[in-house]
Amino acid sequence: MGSVRKAVLPAAGLGTRFLPITKSIPKEMLPLVDKPAIQYVVEEAVTAGITDVLVITGRGKGAIEDHFDRNVELEQVLERSGKHALLAEVAATDQLADVHFVRQHEALGLGHAVSVAEPHVGGEPFVVMLGDDIMVDDAALLTRMLAVHEETGGSVLAVLEVTREEISAYGALTAEPVREGVVRARGVVEKPAPDDAPSTLAVIGRYVFTPGIFDALRETSPGVGGEIQLTDAIGILLEREPVYGVIFRDGRYDAGKKVDFLRANIELGLARDDLRDEIEQMLRVLVRDRGLT
Ligand code: G1P
Repeated sequence: MGSVRKAVLPAAGLGTRFLPITKSIPKEMLPLVDKPAIQYVVEEAVTAGITDVLVITGRGKGAIEDHFDRNVELEQVLERSGKHALLAEVAATDQLADVHFVRQHEALGLGHAVSVAEPHVGGEPFVVMLGDDIMVDDAALLTRMLAVHEETGGSVLAVLEVTREEISAYGALTAEPVREGVVRARGVVEKPAPDDAPSTLAVIGRYVFTPGIFDALRETSPGVGGEIQLTDAIGILLEREPVYGVIFRDGRYDAGKKVDFLRANIELGLARDDLRDEIEQMLRVLVRDRGLT
């Protein structure tokens, strides 16, 4: 395993795209089949060799802390009723990794949320993982990014080619090729209008950073939406140190989009031996009844 041990998961956002459910339930706790979205992210981190996870939370996010804590009463009930498989699964969530929490007291932007991690992360390189991107690639992308970091010592972004209309939802990267699947970042702009976008290479929600990002964040003024943007700090960082991009291939859901979130639920259900047959049957009936063939 490599030298990167810590992951930072910003989870302080209000989740306005999923209102009204997110009025009372953190969006990170929305279920994909029967696990909260954030658990997939933590499992991906662990698969890539991360042992320490820091979740950046805010008001109303207590359910996330409960999920990664023990629930002794529940464990006792499951034990007494002989539900050993469920017991093992419940107990496993708090043993996945060393999960810590810190609050972002004000919603000042993604860059600000990451800066809150500095005392925990210290002077080490670390990973940032955004919960809207749910990866079903057995951590292949993150593992490739960590390998590029090990090889170069630089920061590494995950990038995806999108359409000109789509780029305005992302940070847009200007880059030059290094080798197959790897680019060197030269500039980055947060959520450009399609006509102003310098490229259609989007930054998606996985990052490996050197501690240099914290100095860059300190120098970052509020940007798009009046928020401290992580993208603007990356723009400062890449003037000082090499920053690379690793091209994403496949195995991602954008759980921030309702239809992709529903698709994730169906496809993750289809991947389960205990659910596949029933879901396939449901889909057949649905397609037939709605005349979709
Ligand atoms: C954030 C970042 C953006 C990045 C995106 C990836 O935007 O600010 O640069 O491209 O995540 O998902 P958000 O989706 O939080 O608006």
